[in-house]
Amino acid sequence: MHSPDLSPGVPPETVHVMSDRNSGLEGVIVLHSTRLGPAAGGCRLWNYASAAQSTTDALRLAEGMAYKNALADLPLGGGKAVINLPSGAFDRQALFAAFAREVAKLGGAYITAEDVGTSVADMEVVHRTTRHVAGLSLREGQAGGDPSPWTALGVFNAMQEGSQRVFASGLSGARVGVQGLGHVGAELCRLLGAAGVEMVVADTRPNLAAELAEYYGAQQVSPHAILSAPCDILAPCALGAVMDEFSVEQVQARLVCGAANNVLATDRDGFRLAERGVLYCPDYVVNSGGITNVCAEYLGWPLAEVEHRVADTGRRLAMVLEHSEQHSLLPHHAADKLARARISGGESGSAIAA
Ligand code: NAI
Repeated sequence: MHSPDLSPGVPPETVHVMSDRNSGLEGVIVLHSTRLGPAAGGCRLWNYASAAQSTTDALRLAEGMAYKNALADLPLGGGKAVINLPSGAFDRQALFAAFAREVAKLGGAYITAEDVGTSVADMEVVHRTTRHVAGLSLREGQAGGDPSPWTALGVFNAMQEGSQRVFASGLSGARVGVQGLGHVGAELCRLLGAAGVEMVVADTRPNLAAELAEYYGAQQVSPHAILSAPCDILAPCALGAVMDEFSVEQVQARLVCGAANNVLATDRDGFRLAERGVLYCPDYVVNSGGITNVCAEYLGWPLAEVEHRVADTGRRLAMVLEHSEQHSLLPHHAADKLARARISGGESGSAIAA
């Protein structure tokens, strides 16, 4: 495997600065790309040390969304909004009303939704001012609601594909380690449990882990032990950057496939995994079920369309892994290359891989 010189960051189309003294709104909306459709990506409310830091985070996240949406074959570009958490007490409704006005100014070039620090209630406030928002309360008969079960289903499908490649068998005889048993991890356990898969689980909330372990007859280990636990497949479903120079050396699994964004701490850690004979399924290829549901909600697609597209996650992963093998690229480099090609050429991912 060689590492091609893929530039680490492609410049965004637009950085829209937000500043509203009355509500305390300070932040940016980054439109990385609108070539494949409106730039979609959630709104993060976080305590950043500086405006420069929040902008850097938004740039990185918006680029990631562009790649995720492109490889999920969604008619969406990639964007992200980042709001710097106001210091002291603030009026949350006023903050999101001001944010909504900024989203409205972009006239549909950016579609927002929840992300870290924001909620359905916040998006409902945004919806009073602009229709360019998803992640609203579930409306009867329409796609929408919590995207996490769709994310978990996509990860599960991708895991089946990865398992076929590494072990030449399905998941039934495998032992899967699940790190993080929140919205996505718990649902992934449900799917694995229903498929009769043996599990080892961990969460920083030990009671939650114990409850799930008992329910599924899984082994519970400490959060420190899960990355090195004896298992065939590791599913990071907690935080990003868990595969680093130390943890990679401890991994016993031969396949890493989970929901967490930015699983690799550095680009080099993808290389380290490959060197150890571990197949890494690129995070944004396998965790796109949630954004697919968000897209369907925004565009008014029926639920059946979401089901069909999420069921296709394994095929899209296979396309990326085949490209990786054919061109001797690391899987995450192959994914980036295909996503960039799709964005710049406006072609479908499948057409590029052929
Ligand atoms: P969540 O916040 O509901 O669950 C995360 C869980 O991880 C919590 O139960 C937490 O206690 C646990 N945790 C935190 N640190 C841990 C550690 N060191 N060891 C073990 N457990 C730990 O989050 P959610 O929604 O389930 O998302 C999980 C990951 O998937 C996140 O990285 C998120 O960015 C990513 N993701 C989620 C999507 C979704 O639809 N919810 C979509 C795409 C990505």
